[in-house]
Amino acid sequence: MSGPCHFVILGAAGHLVTTKLLPSLYHLELTGRLDEPLGLVAFARRDWDTQRWRVHLDAVLVAHYGAKLDAATVRRFVERFEYIKGDHRDPVSYQRLLEQISKPRPGVCENVVFYLAIPPDDFVHVVRNLDAAGLNSVVGQHRIVVEKPFGTNLASARELNAELHRHYQEEQIYRIDHYLGKETVQNLLVFRFANSVIEPLWNRHYVDHVQITVAEQAGIGERAGYFDHSGMLRDMVQNHLLQVLTLVAMEPPANLDADTLRDEKIKVLRSIRAIPSESVDDLALRAQYGTGEINGATVPAYRDEPGVSFNSMTESYVAVRFHVDNWRWQGVPFYLRSGKRLAVQRSLVAIRFRDPPHHLFCDTPCEDVDPNWLVLAIQPEESIHFELYARAPGLVMTPRVLRVDTDYRAEHEQRLDAYATLLLDVIEGDQSLFIRFDEVEMAWHVIEPVLEHWNRTSESLYTYPAGSWGPKENSVLFEKRYQSWRNAL
Ligand code: BG6
Repeated sequence: MSGPCHFVILGAAGHLVTTKLLPSLYHLELTGRLDEPLGLVAFARRDWDTQRWRVHLDAVLVAHYGAKLDAATVRRFVERFEYIKGDHRDPVSYQRLLEQISKPRPGVCENVVFYLAIPPDDFVHVVRNLDAAGLNSVVGQHRIVVEKPFGTNLASARELNAELHRHYQEEQIYRIDHYLGKETVQNLLVFRFANSVIEPLWNRHYVDHVQITVAEQAGIGERAGYFDHSGMLRDMVQNHLLQVLTLVAMEPPANLDADTLRDEKIKVLRSIRAIPSESVDDLALRAQYGTGEINGATVPAYRDEPGVSFNSMTESYVAVRFHVDNWRWQGVPFYLRSGKRLAVQRSLVAIRFRDPPHHLFCDTPCEDVDPNWLVLAIQPEESIHFELYARAPGLVMTPRVLRVDTDYRAEHEQRLDAYATLLLDVIEGDQSLFIRFDEVEMAWHVIEPVLEHWNRTSESLYTYPAGSWGPKENSVLFEKRYQSWRNAL
């Protein structure tokens, strides 16, 4: 398939489209990355026509970019759009979509991208409806983009995948994990494989343990309908955190082709040691936020959030210890945690190196020489920090920490939304940053014993005050006494 000539967004009036997709597509327009014949089609339930949609689109862009908007680009971008009113659950609505796509336009092909920005429960209906309306058999070729969550467990993920495969080949399916669109996450590959000084240290001989943290200050907002059935393990660990882990732990791929890269990632997922049911309480921890303070304001407890059941057992915080059983990582624990309503908004990968084999400086005034840390800040800070020791100035030979800090981005370099890269990849047909089904399967396989154990028991749900760093029981996961969570950069 050469480039698509139609990009159809199903669920176009939704939150994801408004906050992420439209601003990112505009950015691609601004940077000249949208081909001339590409028509954008917004498909949604609202009783609008194309003119009304364009007014809405204009407002979305103004709200997002304000004074930075370029008038000529906005005009070009807005004019690419057609609006089709339709209910994605209703097969009849798809006829209008078919008519739009089949309209003969000079120089326009029939290659289409369908972006499913709709609730996950509707994926299967939409795929069937597209097929029933003949939208899979129009002359051109198709790509379909599916948002997470991909299933709610291994079995449902397999069912969804089987349905997708009834209509599409794997090369046509783009399963999004927006963390892979983040530049600082992609930087893990560059940092590891473009620096020959780093790679020799990146193994069990030098690394004591790895921490991956995604801390959010926000609560669940209006998303109880989804989140209260999901929880942090499904919502964050099964996808985003495990994906980051694969990039930290993978072997150097032979090249950056989509399948070569994903072959290396899947090897990591396959090497993660299964968590037996009887060990879940030692290796995984869940908790819910109570009321507390965020930025000086009191916020409600998880169970008091609108739409959450008063006795909900859903975790808003999760921490897990994984072991990657392979040659490189044997004996190096990977600690992953993610929580809502935590003390700060911060995502980072922190690598703690081993202590020097001999403590030469233990009799100096600096008794506790901490080990070296490398911290890669993913968001909102985007930076790299390396802690090394150097002699402190003065008469006495004393080591002190020297922090080598560098920002990932120069001041004049624009911050891109993760979706901008991913949308461009869909348009250009590059699947490297999309999740292949075997990755989805393995990720469910890894977390399912924990999910099942937690479903069976109402014990072991801890609480933590909103605005803290999680439950005080948090440190039980650590293998060694000296290990503890790294919260600061
Ligand atoms: C989404 C989760 O996938 O990622 C949300 O469903 C979470 O619960 C969000 O808040 C975090 O994304 P980001 O890019 O803000 O870190």
